Amino acid sequence: MAKDKIRVAIIGNGIIGESHIQTYLKIPEAQIAAICDINEARLNEIGDRYHIDRRYTHIGKMLRDEELDAVDVCLHNNMHAPVSIAVMRSGRDCYCEKPMAGSFYDAREMLRVSEETGRKLHIQLAFLYSNETKAAKRFIDAGDLGRIYHMRSYGFRRRGRPYVDGYAAKEFVNTATSGGGALFDMGVYHISQLLYLTGIPELERVTGRTYAEVAMDEGRRAISGYNVEELGLGFANYKGGLSLDVLESWAVHGRPFPSSVIMGSEAGVSLNPLVIHSRHHDLETDTTVDLGQMDYLAHTVYADSAHYDNSQQHWIHALLGKCELLPTAKIALETQRLQEGIYFSEKLGREVTSEEIEALSVSKALEIPNIAL
Ligand SMILES: NC(=O)c1ccc[n+]([C@@H]2O[C@H](COP(=O)([O-])OP(=O)(O)OC[C@H]3O[C@@H](n4cnc5c(N)ncnc54)[C@H](O)[C@@H]3O)[C@@H](O)[C@H]2O)c1
Repeated sequence: MAKDKIRVAIIGNGIIGESHIQTYLKIPEAQIAAICDINEARLNEIGDRYHIDRRYTHIGKMLRDEELDAVDVCLHNNMHAPVSIAVMRSGRDCYCEKPMAGSFYDAREMLRVSEETGRKLHIQLAFLYSNETKAAKRFIDAGDLGRIYHMRSYGFRRRGRPYVDGYAAKEFVNTATSGGGALFDMGVYHISQLLYLTGIPELERVTGRTYAEVAMDEGRRAISGYNVEELGLGFANYKGGLSLDVLESWAVHGRPFPSSVIMGSEAGVSLNPLVIHSRHHDLETDTTVDLGQMDYLAHTVYADSAHYDNSQQHWIHALLGKCELLPTAKIALETQRLQEGIYFSEKLGREVTSEEIEALSVSKALEIPNIAL
């Protein structure tokens, strides 16, 4: 008999693990089977708060003892690869937080194991499910933009570095746990949105710079061992004459940057707020979309779009066979290729090719103390 519920366990019950639990509780087809966190106090706090009885501090023990369809990995970036790989090797489908991993090497290994084991691998790329993305995709897929030649990935925070500026854990700002800074953490959303909308183009070469110049709380700098970029810039060439520039800031003395854009010969798209820029009767025109109406129709007349309401709902529906899983692992891997290419370019002081990124990237995966049995 076909399944009507997916039994899922959540590994890592910190800020985002708790948020995933809250979302699963709103998805009728999802059943939270167990939770796991190495911090027993946090594990029990979350277990008590959401009435989840099956609790583990040991990942390996949970994978061995629990009856699970899927596992959701909400650990820090450099733990994504080893834990996701163990999950897939245990025969479960795997959901993993963004960025896919701490390095391109590790992300590629995750995708390889997914293909080898036949287990599904889904990466949290929240922007793919926004109404702006859905509407933009319709214009792009219909060919309204003509020849797409440039895209711009922009993300702005004036003072929003994790931990040192307040929000979130110190693991975000140390390469030992995070692999990277603003480009990884926020850039992943903006870059993946563009790669998705333009059909996952193939990177040829990239150049870039990274900076960490703006003053921060010195106490928190010392505690975290802050060593990541707060501003990342890049210029990339993709196959077919498509280019991309990136400007991603966690902290900068400046005004907000405009939104990400896609430029085509017939029309362009600003993604937030969504505007389609084009020319009619030799007049420059800007079209806006009633996204509220689009969303209403999507949930009434075209009800199958509930499969794309958010990343977790999409995942659960895909596991139940209600829709095809979006290729988020592939999109996230190509996002990581560009991001790490910018880091290599900064290090080498020159442009790097896609092949060089593959050759230079090494594993940043951490030893997981509670995974072996
Ligand atoms: N915080 C956010 O707003 C946010 C948003 C989107 C994505 N993310 C992503 O989620 C991931 C986690 O971020 P977070 O903010 O939830 O971090 P967090 O520090 O709040 O939570 C991480 C949890 O993992 C647990 N943990 C560490 N090692 C473990 C192990 N070996 N076994 C089991 N549990 C272990 C910790 O005890 C902690 O509770 C990161 O990859 C981040 O990029 C976070």
